[in-house]
Amino acid sequence: MNPKIPLNSVINDNCLNFITKLPDECIDLIITDPPYGISHGNKLAMSNIKKLEGFGGDWSIINEEWDTFTFEDYCSFIKEILKESSRVLKENGTIFICGTYHNIGIINYLALETGFRIINEIIWYKRNAFPNLSQKCLTASHENILWLSKSESWNYNYEDIKKTSYNFDNLKEPDKQMRSVWDIPNNKEKKELAYRKAFTDKSYWIKSQKPLRLIDRCIEMAAIFDQDQFVIADWFSGSGTTLVSAKNHSLDFIGCEVNPKFTKVIKWRLANSS
Ligand SMILES: C[S@@+](CC[C@H](N)C(=O)[O-])C[C@H]1O[C@@H](n2cnc3c(N)ncnc32)[C@H](O)[C@@H]1O
Repeated sequence: MNPKIPLNSVINDNCLNFITKLPDECIDLIITDPPYGISHGNKLAMSNIKKLEGFGGDWSIINEEWDTFTFEDYCSFIKEILKESSRVLKENGTIFICGTYHNIGIINYLALETGFRIINEIIWYKRNAFPNLSQKCLTASHENILWLSKSESWNYNYEDIKKTSYNFDNLKEPDKQMRSVWDIPNNKEKKELAYRKAFTDKSYWIKSQKPLRLIDRCIEMAAIFDQDQFVIADWFSGSGTTLVSAKNHSLDFIGCEVNPKFTKVIKWRLANSS
């Protein structure tokens, strides 16, 4: 075990401080969900508009301080994250990086510029998508995930993934190749939201929490389960979905999260997941 890696823990820090302290080539897989750069003090919120009949749910848009950048600052930030990620990633390591139509083009361009190969762009189709509050454009019903590799050689558990049915996914049939469009409902299971009973103050609730089954699939595709040690990192851990999924798959992980409240949530989720 590399003593310089705080394995199986989450650190409350700005990830650029955190990553720069890590040694070269110590990470096998990065799964991360950076700020989208879409919060510009937008006043749209369900409380400001008429109730949208039939949508139900506790909808709230992402309008967060951590997500507020100028375009130039956002590009420099992502570039630095990609450069440092490349340095700490092992030669055959890969990255899953999540985004939306607002930022995925920027990440795609900067990933190529950093020297990554784009293995796939995955479309996460959300059949129960967030309603369009402006009523001036289409309801965005997907998010994007870029799967990047540092070199020409990477791990893909092709046969296992082909066999799996993922029976909630209407686009995946058993014994058929995995496609690049994933039909994964955005509902979280009870256990994924259990932390909200422990942290009733809503400022601890992470609006952009990813469903575990999305991250589970990334890990099941790309992790090497019989390697002595396989380390998964998430620089923007949020509620800790990547870390909980890694733990559930008996793999090692390291996480970073700048918000101290969210860091407490992650610690709680890790302590209460089996
Ligand atoms: C899109 S959310 C991630 C959600 C996560 N995938 C989940 O399932 O809960 C991005 C997270 O990055 C954190 N963050 C933003 N800027 C950061 C930085 N510079 N360093 C570390 N964390 C940061 C935010 O506090 C937020 O929790």
